Amino acid sequence: MSGFVYIKTFGCQMNERDSEIMEHLLGQAGYVTTEVMEEADLVILNTCSIRAKAEQKVFSLLGHLRQLKEKKERKNKPLFIGVAGCVAQQEGERIIRRMPHVNIVVGTQQFYHLPDMLGRLQRGESTSEVATDLSSSFAIPALQEMTSPPAPSQFRKFVTIMQGCNNYCSYCVVPETRGREISRPVRDILEEVEKLVSAGVREITLLGQNVNSYGRTNQVASQDVTFSDLLRLVARTPGLERLRFTTSNPKDLSTELMRCFAEIDILCPQFHLPVQSGSNRILARMNRKYTRELYLERVADLRSFRPDIALTTDVIVGFPGESEADFEQTMDLLREVRYHGSFSFKYSDRPGTRSSGFDDKVPEEVKKERLARFQELQDEISLERNTEYVGKTVDIMVESIGREGISGRTTTNHIVHCPPLPGVGPGDTVPVRVVQAGKHSLKGDFVGPQLEAGGRK
Ligand code: SAH
Ligand code: SF4
Ligand code: F3S
Repeated sequence: MSGFVYIKTFGCQMNERDSEIMEHLLGQAGYVTTEVMEEADLVILNTCSIRAKAEQKVFSLLGHLRQLKEKKERKNKPLFIGVAGCVAQQEGERIIRRMPHVNIVVGTQQFYHLPDMLGRLQRGESTSEVATDLSSSFAIPALQEMTSPPAPSQFRKFVTIMQGCNNYCSYCVVPETRGREISRPVRDILEEVEKLVSAGVREITLLGQNVNSYGRTNQVASQDVTFSDLLRLVARTPGLERLRFTTSNPKDLSTELMRCFAEIDILCPQFHLPVQSGSNRILARMNRKYTRELYLERVADLRSFRPDIALTTDVIVGFPGESEADFEQTMDLLREVRYHGSFSFKYSDRPGTRSSGFDDKVPEEVKKERLARFQELQDEISLERNTEYVGKTVDIMVESIGREGISGRTTTNHIVHCPPLPGVGPGDTVPVRVVQAGKHSLKGDFVGPQLEAGGRK
């Protein structure tokens, strides 16, 4: 096998991580990654089906790929098209029936078979390949073996610590597209982290749909490690400078985990704690298993352990049955917590979810109007929050360097744009003074001593 592969990734960090593994496996099979879709011999779309819009994007790109495939075939150059990820998992064979130019459909736990599937296609042993089984064990036993060494500029990496989700929030496709929740063995996680850090990675984000329940669904029977234990173990890795994680369901946020923010110095003071709604009635219909009161209590506790913690959240507006009064409770909660930032979405009906069968759907115009109101208030609050940093000195880890300047991230996960500074490279940590705040980012200036030291810490 040989040729160029183009991989397009939609959706969350889980998919980004899976795409890296696919790239690595295909690389071993002789495929070179290209950034130019038109020159590829193999195109893989790693898809997301969380909202209808995400799925529509995939089908419209597949439509475009049909034309590309026909054009290439006229020049006698075959093009293989593969669909991976959550749409593949959910739709399976139906994708090929609807779009016969697709050659491969590979689900969220089967993508490590991609090279074999391609081999059969290339040898003419089959004309299409579909694999969407969901296993009950950790899909990729030795994930760390499937990690290509990070490029020198890659100093931030994701490490998957669990797969699947057992929460069944009534609106969500993830339990169906990712299968049952399973925790990855600690030993494998630590090995992967060590490997990455010794290759130059300085920041690790531990990934799972509900990391707080890590360890409850073990594959290794003798393993008795909670998420907090895992954080402490990972934090010990020599050379690791920053540690983050995502995502947490508030119902499983333990005091033990909150204490980690006070006790683990490399754990960044940033927490993404999706609330979804401020109304208890809607939270119950969403099957979130916590109340507004419990959520606010956890926020207060978190802030008592780590007063400088920056909180972000996810919100769904226009969930079936959401009245104006319910929505106002979400707005109130936003005023009360004053999140540093949030991701907000209009409720979207997804096939197979419980809420898709609820009959009191909120009209599109109402959802649109509520979303705009929510986002306007969040923008105001984000600006106020960001203004609190003006005049303070913060450490940024440099991410990108251009002619116009340098951008980096604070431990609270804020982006700071600074003027150019010679001698500073990606991954370096430098102190900057925040001079200006915007809604989505900060502006900073480098401060004194490191200028003489050439910027390196
Ligand atoms: N596991 C994470 C969320 C993963 S999905 C958690 O529980 O927090 C990311 C976000 O997409 C969710 O937090 C939710 O806000 C949003 N989302 C999920 N399903 C949705 C749907 N059907 N319509 C609109 N937004 C949705
Ligand atoms: Fe979906 Fe809920 Fe699981 Fe998050 S916790 S992935 S929202 S079912
Ligand atoms: Fe999307 Fe699947 Fe992630 S539905 S958000 S890619 S888990």
